[in-house]
Amino acid sequence: MRQSARPPASAILASIVALMPLPASAFYFPGVAPTSYKSGDKVPLYVNHLTPADSQNDPKLRSVLSYDYYHPPFHFCKPEGGPQYIRESLGSILFGDRIQTSPFELKMGVNETCKAVCETQTLSGRDAKFVNNLIYGGYDMNWLVDGLPAAQLLRDPESDQPFYSPGFALGTFDGDLPVLHNHYDIVVDYHEAAPNQFRVVGVLVEPSSMANSKYVGPGKAECPKGDTKLAPTENPEENGPNLVTYTYSVYWSSSPTSFATRWDKYLHVYDPKIHWFSLVNSAVIVVFLIGMVSTILVRTLKKDIARYNRLDELALEDFGANGMVEDGVQDDSGWKLVHGDVFRPPKNPLFLSVLVGNGAQLFMMTGLTIAIALLGFLSPSSRGSLGTVIIVFYILFGFIGGYVSSRVYKFFQGESWKQVFFWTPIALPGFVFAVFFLLNLFVWGRGASGAVPFTTMLVLVIIWFVISVPLSVAGSWIGFKQPAIEAPVRTNQIPRQIPPAGGYLRPLPSMALAGVLPFGAIFVELYFIMNSIWFSKVYYMFGFLFICFGLMIMTCAAVTVLMIYFLLCAENYHWQWRSFCTAGASAFYVFASALLYWIKGVSFSNWTSGVLYLGYSALLSLLFFVLTGELSIYFVFVKVIQRG
Ligand SMILES: *[C@@H]1O[C@H](CO)[C@@H](O)[C@H](O)[C@H]1NC(C)=O
Repeated sequence: MRQSARPPASAILASIVALMPLPASAFYFPGVAPTSYKSGDKVPLYVNHLTPADSQNDPKLRSVLSYDYYHPPFHFCKPEGGPQYIRESLGSILFGDRIQTSPFELKMGVNETCKAVCETQTLSGRDAKFVNNLIYGGYDMNWLVDGLPAAQLLRDPESDQPFYSPGFALGTFDGDLPVLHNHYDIVVDYHEAAPNQFRVVGVLVEPSSMANSKYVGPGKAECPKGDTKLAPTENPEENGPNLVTYTYSVYWSSSPTSFATRWDKYLHVYDPKIHWFSLVNSAVIVVFLIGMVSTILVRTLKKDIARYNRLDELALEDFGANGMVEDGVQDDSGWKLVHGDVFRPPKNPLFLSVLVGNGAQLFMMTGLTIAIALLGFLSPSSRGSLGTVIIVFYILFGFIGGYVSSRVYKFFQGESWKQVFFWTPIALPGFVFAVFFLLNLFVWGRGASGAVPFTTMLVLVIIWFVISVPLSVAGSWIGFKQPAIEAPVRTNQIPRQIPPAGGYLRPLPSMALAGVLPFGAIFVELYFIMNSIWFSKVYYMFGFLFICFGLMIMTCAAVTVLMIYFLLCAENYHWQWRSFCTAGASAFYVFASALLYWIKGVSFSNWTSGVLYLGYSALLSLLFFVLTGELSIYFVFVKVIQRG
């Protein structure tokens, strides 16, 4: 498609990308100690759940449900004595991994062709219908050999470089007919680290479909070459039974790749240009905004200084004629007039404090997670480490959340202390958990495996109540014991009248206007994150994400400070909720972009997927709202305190 010679600009970009240590591969921290096998040793092959993927002929997402490998309709072969679950981290389970043992036998360095996995299986019409549906949905199998995902060899359409794409298709199409892959050619790359010390450094699986392969005896089969394809029929009464023999071949190929770099070929930056584009884009927004904020601040400052100088002169000329001077002061306009009202507590101080505390907790969690990921500690080689780290940080930073919310509440002169202590660790996490639980009920209802097991839920609740809640309460207690933050000016007894403001200063237009900018700073990375969530791909471009996150913080700060400055100039002193919602409004754009993504890249084959998609998008947007809202109120607060 895109075969024209690449312009030099992109070549330069590509070389910058090559130089920048952004992909995790450049300094990735070895997540697992290498395992060495001797020639002929058994190398375990584990199977994970089946996930929806973007196939090449149909890039649309059809479903968000994943299925257990041993879900009965597949009739995949089970190991002797039944499959066993492999122990996994909490994060790994929450992100959907269900890793189990398998009957495949791989012996280091021993090539074997056409082995039967088990006896011939018979699929009923209903099973065939189910399997065909998943083939239409572009589902992928996910296997693991020595911790490495079994991949398909793909080529980057731009650079024609080969790379390993984790997962391989459950089936394909013969014309319009879905055919099931029942034969797997497994190619394992190994590296000889020392004499007779072999390590697995790459796994490729090329699946194929064979209608006439036969089971001969335990582990033995016949795989006729150039066979017709196996299309499961949904009507076996008429078309004959669906007989499926699962077979596999194993080839071992020596590779110069060492164990330390074995993940590199999996972590392929698909289209680095777009990330750079997004970075430049958000940097421009930030520079523009910060330029605007500083111009305005400098200009007002100059005006003020000029006026004070003038006042001084006047005072010198008309010594004692106070009236003149006072007139001059009366001339004050804008935010100076609301001096006595700026620190009037907002409506619903409790609710706002709880939100701000939770936002601080989320912010610490996100920032530190991204920073740690950037340092390469969360390499994809240790599965689920990202999820685990997110949970651990969230729980530990409950302390910060409690502290911030009670300090803010004290500043707002709140009285109902017990409520702050109680709601900070309960309200938002409780809401998120409830929605999460409800969404899981849907998955349970469909019998898909993506549902988080009940025991994991229980563990989460226990961790929440045993660690996070006490930490938050302790934080609140310490915050409560601190002296209240002094407001630099006294608040007047009688609230000022707020003159009606029009145009962009009304709440909705101001939110719509301001919210788009923080969103603009991150939307490209957001798109990739969504892609990796819904298509269960590894996300590892933390370098880009880190910079985007920083730019987003700056944008939040600049845009809200600007907006609140205009607001105060219009003599409206209700800045607290306003500043929270102004940058927080970018969450609505996040949700809107999820809807747009739905229209463009999603066509669900079942309504459960739709509910899950909307539910999780809404949850994500809510968290984003609290995070950006907290950021912006923080910056505005600092500014107001400084200028007040
Ligand atoms: C195993 O198969 C691979 C790939 O076909 C080949 O390169 C290798 O030489 C074979 N090894 C043995 C021991 O036959």
